Amino acid sequence: MLVGVPTEVKDNERRVAITPEGVRELTVHGHRVLVQRGAGEGSSLHDDEYAVAGAVLVDVDEAWGAELVVKVKEPQPEEYARLRPDLVLFTFLHLAGYPEVADALLAAGTTALAYETVQLDSGDLPLLAPMSEVAGRMAPQIGSHWLEAENGGRGVLLGGAPGVRPARVVVLGAGNVGWNAAWIAAGMEAEVLLLDKRIDRLRWVDQIHKGRIMTIGSNRGAVERAVAEADLVVGAVLVPGGRAPTVVTEEMVAGMRTGAVIVDVAVDQGGCVETIRETTHSDPVYERHGVLHYAVGNIPGAVPNTSTYALTNATLAYVLALAELGVPEALEHDPALRHGLNTAGGQLVNPAVARALGRGTGAHAPSSAQP
Ligand SMILES: NC(=O)c1ccc[n+]([C@@H]2O[C@H](COP(=O)([O-])OP(=O)(O)OC[C@H]3O[C@@H](n4cnc5c(N)ncnc54)[C@H](O)[C@@H]3O)[C@@H](O)[C@H]2O)c1
Repeated sequence: MLVGVPTEVKDNERRVAITPEGVRELTVHGHRVLVQRGAGEGSSLHDDEYAVAGAVLVDVDEAWGAELVVKVKEPQPEEYARLRPDLVLFTFLHLAGYPEVADALLAAGTTALAYETVQLDSGDLPLLAPMSEVAGRMAPQIGSHWLEAENGGRGVLLGGAPGVRPARVVVLGAGNVGWNAAWIAAGMEAEVLLLDKRIDRLRWVDQIHKGRIMTIGSNRGAVERAVAEADLVVGAVLVPGGRAPTVVTEEMVAGMRTGAVIVDVAVDQGGCVETIRETTHSDPVYERHGVLHYAVGNIPGAVPNTSTYALTNATLAYVLALAELGVPEALEHDPALRHGLNTAGGQLVNPAVARALGRGTGAHAPSSAQP
C-alpha cells in the first residue's frame, strides 16, 4: 500500500506521524512510504534518515495523494481540500472538540480512524496512553523550573539538600499522567503524595514504590490538607468521556503557599483546579492568589522527538495492519481498531463520538459543509 506522511501544520506542532524505524518496518513488509520533505525536522528526524530507512521523499501533494495518510493532529482548515472519498486517514481527531473537522470529513466521504478512540477490551486507550506518560513525566520538571525564584516560584529545590527538607509534591489522580509524575518526582528526591479515588490503583502503586510515594485516598478533606502544604500540585484526574471534576477549589488555591506552583495536566478536559484556564507553550503561566498556574494543553509538544517515538511505537502495529489488510479486514480482525473508526462513506460511525457531537450514528455533514 502507498502510505503518506505529511508535515504537521497545526500551530507549534513539531511531532511527525512516523519515525525512520517505522518507515523501515513498513518497507520491509513491501509498502511504499511517501514522507513529505522536512516532515521530521521539528522532531530532530532528518530527511536523510528517512531516505536510508527506505522512504520516498516527496512534496505535500504527493504525501496527501497516498491511499493511507498517517498524521499526528486533526486536519487543519487549509488541509480540508485534501480530504477525499478514497482516502483513509489515521490520526488524532478529537471530533467532539472539533465539530468542523467532523463536517469536513463527512462532506468529503473520507474514512477516518482516530487514535484516541482505539480502545482495548479492558477499556484502556493504547494510543492515548503514551502522550499521558510523556506529559506526566514532564510535570515535575516543569514544576521545578517554575519553582525557581527567578521564574516567580518560592525558590524551593524539589530534592532539597542534605539537612534540608525536600519540596512537597502533591499529585491528584494516579492514572497514566499521575503515576508517571509521582514516579519522576520521587526520583528527583521530592516528598510525594499521590491521591486517587481508586484504592486498587493506590494499592498497586504502593506495592511498586514501597512507601517512597505516599498514597492517599482522595476526598475533600484529604485534598484540602495536602494542597495547603504543597510546593507543587499536579492535576491528573480524568473521568472518562466527561469534563474533569473540580478537585481543588479557588478557596484551596487561596490557602496555598505564596510562590507554590500548579501544573494542571488535565486542562484538556477542562482542568481539575477551579482557577485554571488553558495556556500555551509561548505563554505558559499566570499567577492567581500568589500561586503560579501552568496549564498547557499539548505538553508533549515540547519534547517532539521523544513524543514522536512514544506515539509511533504505539501506532505502528495498527498502521501496519491497515496497510497489510486494508480497512474492512483490519477492522474485522481487531475490535480495538474498530472503535477507532469515526467516519466512513460520509457517515459518523462511532456512537460515543456521535453522542458527544449531539448527533446520531449515520449522521451526515450539514449541506453547507465543504470538504
Ligand atoms: N495537557 C496535556 O498535554 C495532556 C497530555 C496527556 C494527557 N492529558 C490529560 O491528563 C488527564 C489524565 O489522563 P490519564 O491518562 O492519566 O487518565 P487516567 O484515566 O489514566 O487517570 C485518571 C485518574 O484520575 C482519577 N480520578 C478521577 N476522579 C478523581 C478525583 N475526584 N480525585 C482523585 N482522582 C480522581 C481516576 O481514578 C484515574 O486513576 C486527561 O484529561 C488527559 O487528557 C493532558
